[in-house]
Amino acid sequence: MSSQWVYEIKGLDLDNPACLVNETIFHNANGYIGVRSNFEEGYPQDYDTIRGSYINGFYDIAKMPQAEKLCGLVEEKQTMLNVADTQTIQLEINGEVFSMFRGTVEESSRSLDMARGITCRRVVWTSPLGHKINLTVRRMASFKLKPLFTIEYQVEPVNFSGDTRLVSGHNGDVRNYCNPNDPRVAGESFVHLKGRTARIPGQGESLIVMDTVSSGLSVCTYVKNVCSMPVQMSREAKGYSISWNIHAKVEQGQTFTLTKYTVFTDSLRYRDCEDAACKAMEEALSVPLIRWYDWQKEYLDVFWNQSALDIEGDDDLALAVRYNLYQLIQSAGRDKYGNIAAKGLSGEGYEGHYFWDTEMYMQPFFTLTNPDISRNLIDYRYEILDGARENARILGHKKGALYPWRTISGKECSGYFPSGSAQYHINGDIAYAVVAYYLATLDLGYIAEKGAEIVFETARLWMDTGNFYKGRFLINDVTGPDEYTCIVNNNYYTNACAQYNLHWAVRFWELLNQAGLLEPVAKKLELTREEILEFSRAEKAMYLPYDEELGINPQDDSFLQKKKWDIANTPKDHFPLLLHYHPLYIYRFQVCKQADTVLAHFIFEDAQDLETIRRSFAYYETVTTHDSSLSTCIYSIVASKLGEKEKAYTYFGDSAKLDLFNLHHNTKDGIHTANMGGNYMAVVYGFGGLRLKESGLHFAPYLPGPWKAYTFKVCYRGRTIKVRVDEEKTVFVLESGERVSLWIYDEPCLLENVLEIPVKK
Ligand code: BGC
Repeated sequence: MSSQWVYEIKGLDLDNPACLVNETIFHNANGYIGVRSNFEEGYPQDYDTIRGSYINGFYDIAKMPQAEKLCGLVEEKQTMLNVADTQTIQLEINGEVFSMFRGTVEESSRSLDMARGITCRRVVWTSPLGHKINLTVRRMASFKLKPLFTIEYQVEPVNFSGDTRLVSGHNGDVRNYCNPNDPRVAGESFVHLKGRTARIPGQGESLIVMDTVSSGLSVCTYVKNVCSMPVQMSREAKGYSISWNIHAKVEQGQTFTLTKYTVFTDSLRYRDCEDAACKAMEEALSVPLIRWYDWQKEYLDVFWNQSALDIEGDDDLALAVRYNLYQLIQSAGRDKYGNIAAKGLSGEGYEGHYFWDTEMYMQPFFTLTNPDISRNLIDYRYEILDGARENARILGHKKGALYPWRTISGKECSGYFPSGSAQYHINGDIAYAVVAYYLATLDLGYIAEKGAEIVFETARLWMDTGNFYKGRFLINDVTGPDEYTCIVNNNYYTNACAQYNLHWAVRFWELLNQAGLLEPVAKKLELTREEILEFSRAEKAMYLPYDEELGINPQDDSFLQKKKWDIANTPKDHFPLLLHYHPLYIYRFQVCKQADTVLAHFIFEDAQDLETIRRSFAYYETVTTHDSSLSTCIYSIVASKLGEKEKAYTYFGDSAKLDLFNLHHNTKDGIHTANMGGNYMAVVYGFGGLRLKESGLHFAPYLPGPWKAYTFKVCYRGRTIKVRVDEEKTVFVLESGERVSLWIYDEPCLLENVLEIPVKK
């Protein structure tokens, strides 16, 4: 892998799977738009490619008919749309068409510069008749002007002078990718966009507005082609597809540059998306491209300064971790309309849906390094709170809110409820993220304004789902995080989550009351002290299953009664199990797709003593396949907690390069954003031992075997704290803000300026 900041692949593998993976790996996104990194000129016919551009939160509605129409089953879903193709540029030199699949590709590379926020494709190509060119293509999704995507396309004739012809396309009439054999992507591809406007605002320009078929949304794409030398231009238009033919005479050794600006706008964010696109284009063209490059770098300087996780002693891994963090900033929505999709903005896997992945895997990174983005993510959940209330009613609950398991704008989109809607823990996960934001910022004003409402309404739902029985509060018929075990009684993780949710509903009531901020929210929700007392009673009586014989927490009431799946003797090509066995068959075994009770041992570690956690961890290791990419990072964190350092490092390594090495064989459908956030947590929470608790900020750092040191920063209650861990010591530096008391290896320590603590062996 390449330098510290540049991830580069040289000598491109043109095999179909490799090309597809690179479309994902080198995509450009900025939290609002995402464009896959397809070859501008396209691929041979019958070549599998996912040519896509996406807008965070922009969707249409697709039918999802249920074969048996039971009450309340979900019959339609929101699906993120591929909105327009503006990346097409075909090149012809002296009458010969450029393609990676003919002539001779003498050199080729792709790279992502994470300090500058630009991807680059370089090709040295000789045509069948011997014309040689250097091609350089830089792409950027601007962090400063969110609608803006640019392609800087440079051609240099090396051994000839002559005709260079480009066809620069803009096609609004696009569809989504589908694969009927993979439940993790859409099974069918429908027409979701119908044309409204296609026009030529000026020379080299095209503007297309498309309306969704069912969701009532519109998207506008505006393209402007700017050439570095005099050219002849003519246009072709067919339906909602417009292209510009560009003809230039280029001398040997000269460089011809086409700069293709696209702006994307949508009617969710802009009342008139066409007008907004015109304004955004004006802004884009008001300064030279180089200025946008500078701003891109300035944005990233700030980002890396507060968020970098530096690893000394393993450059490859350091780069992989940086890549993961870069993807998080590319993926995270910055407004209330968009969140972080399971695949970010890099592909169509999981149809652009938002899951619990955000709160439990990605948001911790933002809460600790960029609380503003964390708050935006909560804004989004607040925005869909009414949808969650409606969802609760559909599922029969009289009170409270139940967040949909997967959604874009608030409606449940999961077609298979046993491992979808039944995952009630998402309520506790969202409440957990609100609390984490509060613990990191003490922003009680925001809790009064939005956070508490989420926590109260989710707490209410537990009261309506569970019940007291013989002095214990039980929650029956739910699914925990492990999707290989569905609809069970008293899933340990879910009950622990609910307990925390109830605890914080009570705490926020008290805190807001003390601060005189309670009344508006209590009034709005008609929440009374009696109800709060019931929350407290349920919290205290919450049943957390424990098995006396094994001394572990069973995943649920029936888990330990089942046969163990023979993981060791299952053929390698039968993983992930979900693609090879009927779900019901899987449910009857002790086999976990991902961390479940082990996740609870990390998140709610104080609920059990260390020896119980140790035995549980050892037990679940033997029954977990890690078929989900959300798993090994959590095992790494708990292994760190237990002092099992080698194991922690192995689990961490398994997750760090998951997408770069396509370890789950589906990176073509998009990056695994939760895994990327989990990878960050494996360092900061795992090796660094960080925990955010009511008692304060805790650390228990150690250095994993092969490293020389690692460094990260934390934003904590208005302060920036830098932490550097090497073999001997941890140095805490208070970079800004007032002195603060920290817990280091469970001892209180005052950080005034610099604090040096020997690493506990
Ligand atoms: C996992 C879920 C996750 C989803 C989206 C599934 O494979 O089991 O926990 O939310 O992927 O990433």
